[in-house]
Amino acid sequence: MKFFIDTANLDQIKEANDLGILDGVTTNPSLMAKEGIKGQEAILQHYRDICAIVDGPVSAEVLSTDFEGMVEEGKKLAALHENIVVKIPMIKDGIKAIKWFTDNGIRTNCTLVFSAGQAILAAKAGATMVSPFIGRIDDGSWDGVQLIEQIVNIYNAQGFMTEVLAASIRSPLHIVRCAEAGADICTCPLTSITGLLKHPLTDIGLAQFLADAKNL
Ligand code: E4P
Repeated sequence: MKFFIDTANLDQIKEANDLGILDGVTTNPSLMAKEGIKGQEAILQHYRDICAIVDGPVSAEVLSTDFEGMVEEGKKLAALHENIVVKIPMIKDGIKAIKWFTDNGIRTNCTLVFSAGQAILAAKAGATMVSPFIGRIDDGSWDGVQLIEQIVNIYNAQGFMTEVLAASIRSPLHIVRCAEAGADICTCPLTSITGLLKHPLTDIGLAQFLADAKNL
C-alpha cells in the first residue's frame, strides 16, 4: 500500500518525506485555505512548492463544477508539473471531465466518493484514483472501511485499473484496516502516520536495553 500525506502544510510534507516512506500528496480546497493561500498565482506556486519536495503524485483539486471549467483548470494544473494529478469531484460533469482527461493522457483522482456505484462510474470514466472518504462515512455511523473492501472487490472482479485511495483517514487504526481491506493507497494526516510508530512495549523495551547497555 502506498502512503500519501493529506495536507497542504509544507513543513508536515517535508517531515513525512524525510521519513523515506512517502509516495505522494493529496490536497483539497479546505486544506489549502487552512495554510492561508489566497489567489490563483499563490495556489499554483504552492503546488509547485509541494512538487519540489515530494517525488510522487500530488493531487490538485479543480474549483470549477462545470465540464468546460474543469477541463480548462485541470489543463493548467497538469501543466505545472508532471507529478500533478487533477482532482475532480464525483458529479455528472466531473465524470465527463475525467473521461476527457483520460482520453488526453492526464491523470485524475475522483474525489468525494461515498458509494460503490460512484466508484464504478469513476473507474468506467478511467479515473487513475478514486477517493472514498472513510472518516466522513464513519462520522455518520456507517463503516468506511467496509466501502473500501467493497470497491476493492468490485475493481478486482471487473479488472478495473483505477487505484483505490482511502481518504478522510482519522487514525492509525484506519490505516491498518485499509491495508487489510486491500486499499492501493492511504492518504493520511501526519499524526496518523506517526501514530503507527507508537507502542508502549517498544518504549519500555528500549529503555531497558539502554539501561542494560550501561553494564556492557
Ligand atoms: C483527500 O483527498 C480528502 O480531500 C481528505 O482526505 C478529506 O479529509 P477530511 O474528511 O478529514 O476532510
